[in-house]
Amino acid sequence: MILEGKRLLITGVITKDSIAFHAAEQAQREGASVLLSSFGRVRRMTERAAQKLPEPVDVLELDVNKDSDLEALTASVRERWGEVDGALHAIAYAPEDSLGGRFMTAPADSAMQAFQTSAFSLKSLAAALAPLMPSGASIVGLDFDASVAWPIYDWMGVAKAALESVARYLARDLGPQGIRVNLVSAGPLGTVAARGIPGFEQLADRFREQAPLGWDTSDPVPVARTICFLLSDYAQAITGEIVHVDGGFHAIGAPALSG
Ligand SMILES: NC(=O)c1ccc[n+]([C@@H]2O[C@H](COP(=O)([O-])OP(=O)(O)OC[C@H]3O[C@@H](n4cnc5c(N)ncnc54)[C@H](O)[C@@H]3O)[C@@H](O)[C@H]2O)c1
Repeated sequence: MILEGKRLLITGVITKDSIAFHAAEQAQREGASVLLSSFGRVRRMTERAAQKLPEPVDVLELDVNKDSDLEALTASVRERWGEVDGALHAIAYAPEDSLGGRFMTAPADSAMQAFQTSAFSLKSLAAALAPLMPSGASIVGLDFDASVAWPIYDWMGVAKAALESVARYLARDLGPQGIRVNLVSAGPLGTVAARGIPGFEQLADRFREQAPLGWDTSDPVPVARTICFLLSDYAQAITGEIVHVDGGFHAIGAPALSG
């Protein structure tokens, strides 16, 4: 079991479909102890999902944009475990007017909300937990390949480009403490966040056509397993990295020609 004895904080579970739910499930199967976080009105949904894990777990309050929640998170993780060996950042949000083909008209405030919640927050979470992390600890975030522009993704795509950069700067600043910071760049998966993006299904079709291994939008397990690998000691010399879990889509320029 590659996560035996690891204590992990997992953010971003809202339903059983959430990528973070599957990461928590796999992590428990690999021997980890898990705490979830959620916030405000979706917290009840997270608590329901938490009961469906192989071992039910507690849910801590965390709006990643609130300093008071971040301070309380540090205190309650310290009180429970003293230390924390890893964290999953599975948090993203962009207002509706900054997505779905509205790149040219989105107001600055919406673009900034997307940046704050989806990119700056990786630094916030890392800063809250790093004081509790021993050497060898690992932070993982979730990316959607931001090296190119996509249809419909708009300011969320710009926020992901920022997230990629934030992860590299965190790798720089936390590396000397022995803390690793990496991202998993996932192909499209049918979660609450994804279904909220108009045109998601058409984009998902492109992955099915082009990925050499194929791509199943209803199977988050390959992404969850890669998260567990990066949280584990098997990834001990990997930091500042982006691992693509997309059936190989990113490596191919166009779908195979027929005939
Ligand atoms: N689903 C996909 O196709 C896909 C692909 C690549 C990357 N991702 C990324 O995976 C991550 C998880 O998304 P998901 O697809 O599982 O969707 P999801 O809707 O299940 O999860 C998004 C989570 O973000 C949380 N969140 C939003 N604002 C927050 C705040 N202020 N404080 C704390 N939490 C907040 C929500 O509560 C929710 O749990 C996101 O970073 C997303 O961009 C998703």
